[in-house]
Amino acid sequence: MSDSLIPLAYLAAAVLFILGLHNLSSPRTAPRGNTLAAVGMLIAVVATLLVEEIVDYTVILAGVVVGSTIGVVLALRIQMTAMPQMVALLNGFGGAASALVASAELLGYARRGESPEGVVPIAIVLGVLIGGMTFTGSLIAFAKLQELLGGAPITYRGQQVVNAMLGLGALGLGVGVALHPLDLNLFTGLVITALALGVLTVIPIGGADMPVVISLLNAYSGLAACATGFVLGNSGLVISGSLVGASGIILTKIMCDAMNRSLANVLFSAFGSVTQSPGSPGAEDRGTVTGYTPEDAAIIFSNARSAIVVPGYGMAVAQAQHAVRSLVDELELRGVRVKYAIHPVAGRMPGHMNVLLAEAKVPYEQLVEMDEINPEFPETDVALVIGANDVVNPDALTAKESPLYGMPILDVGRSTYVFVLKRSMNPGFAGVQNPLFYNDNTMMIFGDAKATVMKMVEAVREYS
Ligand code: TAP
Repeated sequence: MSDSLIPLAYLAAAVLFILGLHNLSSPRTAPRGNTLAAVGMLIAVVATLLVEEIVDYTVILAGVVVGSTIGVVLALRIQMTAMPQMVALLNGFGGAASALVASAELLGYARRGESPEGVVPIAIVLGVLIGGMTFTGSLIAFAKLQELLGGAPITYRGQQVVNAMLGLGALGLGVGVALHPLDLNLFTGLVITALALGVLTVIPIGGADMPVVISLLNAYSGLAACATGFVLGNSGLVISGSLVGASGIILTKIMCDAMNRSLANVLFSAFGSVTQSPGSPGAEDRGTVTGYTPEDAAIIFSNARSAIVVPGYGMAVAQAQHAVRSLVDELELRGVRVKYAIHPVAGRMPGHMNVLLAEAKVPYEQLVEMDEINPEFPETDVALVIGANDVVNPDALTAKESPLYGMPILDVGRSTYVFVLKRSMNPGFAGVQNPLFYNDNTMMIFGDAKATVMKMVEAVREYS
């Protein structure tokens, strides 16, 4: 391909990326969005491989074979519940790739004794700084979610001062490298500081906030790629990097808004360090709860006209989505109107519940967002809470001392009956007790969500 056609190929790829992102905004069109973006990426990769400066394909081919094999094996084996840590690793590798390419370019200039000019030295600094931080920060996020490191925030006295000093140090070294790109001592200092910043800024963040951090690191990996695009003079990389950066920042904001918290609060408040001790908010003895059975639930369902299913992280753990679909089918056969209420941060990653329910072929029209469904609970006979906890915790509305205070919730307690399916009285991810479980109209049905729902299906068939 002539070099003049390559920018056109990048333009076509960019258009496909944008159309892909647009289609990802709805679950119905998301598969098409994925395909469009993948075709765009294929075009961009092929165009890059045809750049005339490439003299030897051996190393590139080895990289493609090794990378693709690892990618395919991981993608096939990964559990849906482990997707956030997989994304964390991918972001980390993206950041590392950008930092390595920017470093290789700088070392190439140094070997030739030439000084990079124009925006290139600044782009090298940004590629190394953001890419290096993204790499180590993502590894820590991965280790926390994979439980290789404790999920609780790791804090120490003076931590924010240390991080602020390190940030200032990185800024100073960055300016130094931009002004004296061939001073390799300054450059080594910048690399070490970037790697340390990634570790030290992510360890104080608790596991519950990790999905937000991963989304932010995703944005960083895009910005690092964009900077590296300027280093290489590659418009395809600049465009795709900025799209990843922008969409990652938008997603981060959506997640923070859904939890009613600022990004600063997520990054600096060590949320999740609260341990439930007697006397801590939400830990007081709220009375006893009675365990009910799936058969009890079936009797109530036999008189119900409407129900709202509220899925949460426990449905993902139990992989109960197909059983839930069967239960809803049975209820609908008996004239019960059923909808699903989707909280924006239910589960552990954006769209977690949508993905699971789509897998069970639940029609999209039945999925209703939080703001739209909340007014319907008072007119609903049964709210069926399946492995959700924090997203239905009424303390978020009323208890100022609760770490959940301010987060909008699904107001299930206003339904006539609330069935809560979970295995124990253990708290959800925020680590706080849930007063909903003690309400008079709440019926706790203990056990693995999938097994319980399957028993409910049988009981519903039997009782009506
Ligand atoms: P959680 O509050 O984490 O509660 C999940 C519940 O599922 C647990 O209380 C657990 O109780 C139960 N469970 C686990 N395995 C189960 C199984 N096999 N069968 C039945 N129940 C099971 O979940 P949620 O309500 O979905 O809330 C999500 C939390 O994650 C929120 O705090 C949210 O802010 C946070 N978060 C989410 C995101 C995104 S993007 N989704 C991002 C950042 C933070 P038992 O152990 O008693 O069974």
